[in-house]
Amino acid sequence: MKVVRTIQELRDQLRGQLRIAFVPTMGNLHDAHLALMAMAHKHGDPVVASIFVNRLQFGPNEDFDRYPRTLEEDIAKLQAQNKVYVLFAPDEREMYPEPQEFRVAPPSELGDILEGEFRPGFFVGVTTVVLKLFACVQPRVAVFGKKDYQQLMIVRNMCRQFALPTEILPHETVRDVDGLALSSRNRYLNAEERREAPRLFRVLTAVRERVRAGNHNLSGLEADAIAELTGAGWKVDYVSVRRQRDLKVPTAAEVEAGEPLVVLAAAKLGTTRLIDNLEI
Ligand code: PAJ
Repeated sequence: MKVVRTIQELRDQLRGQLRIAFVPTMGNLHDAHLALMAMAHKHGDPVVASIFVNRLQFGPNEDFDRYPRTLEEDIAKLQAQNKVYVLFAPDEREMYPEPQEFRVAPPSELGDILEGEFRPGFFVGVTTVVLKLFACVQPRVAVFGKKDYQQLMIVRNMCRQFALPTEILPHETVRDVDGLALSSRNRYLNAEERREAPRLFRVLTAVRERVRAGNHNLSGLEADAIAELTGAGWKVDYVSVRRQRDLKVPTAAEVEAGEPLVVLAAAKLGTTRLIDNLEI
């Protein structure tokens, strides 16, 4: 695996490649990231990964400064897996040599709901860096995890509306044995919080099972889920059942007619904010 730190070196390594499969990350790689690399390996060649902690997508009171940066370990994991051909790991001056004044603004109806409501500016930061990374890598396909369901949808829609030649491939959420979705932020959890954390998945599973069993009182189900989490010490941002296709609130008639749904949640355990979702 070649590790490159500049856009110029990256272009030199990739010149003439037409089937590049790309996996953008912020590093602190875990098994879910590696699963995305393996999927990329099945859908293209060469595989390019990136590691860049993107300041633009962090709010002023978020964890940009304490976000785990573990480049040496990340490189060792990718080398052991042996699926990635080039790792692009630019520093901040390389990606943002001047203030990034041109930005991609997702439509408000998708970018300002759910995560976007609680993290203003987050999706502008994501789409801006993803577009810039795509311009550097010029991938044929790129793999994104369903764990970040809204991010996946926004990136997909961005590619479609800008006619970008990159196809977005979704990867299922990778979970620990107790159901907790793998995340770089899980390492902020202390032992007690780590034992409590799978409740988020269990609560979402309960919502899914109750909808499947014919309980279509979605606001009642959401309220029960929020009450259980709050009772166990979580600070809930949202638990919300939405349409899969556009993350809008479904009408009762749509639910009755079997509209594909997804239940999404974000909540804080101590100082750690976790998100998860389940398709119904
Ligand atoms: P990061 O959180 O490092 O995630 C990189 C990719 O891994 C994303 O596509 C994310 O959805 C996926 N991923 C993380 N945990 C996962 C899990 N448990 N199961 C499946 N996929 C998982 O998401 C970002 O970085 C950034 O926003 C980025 C897209 C790189 C832009 O900065």
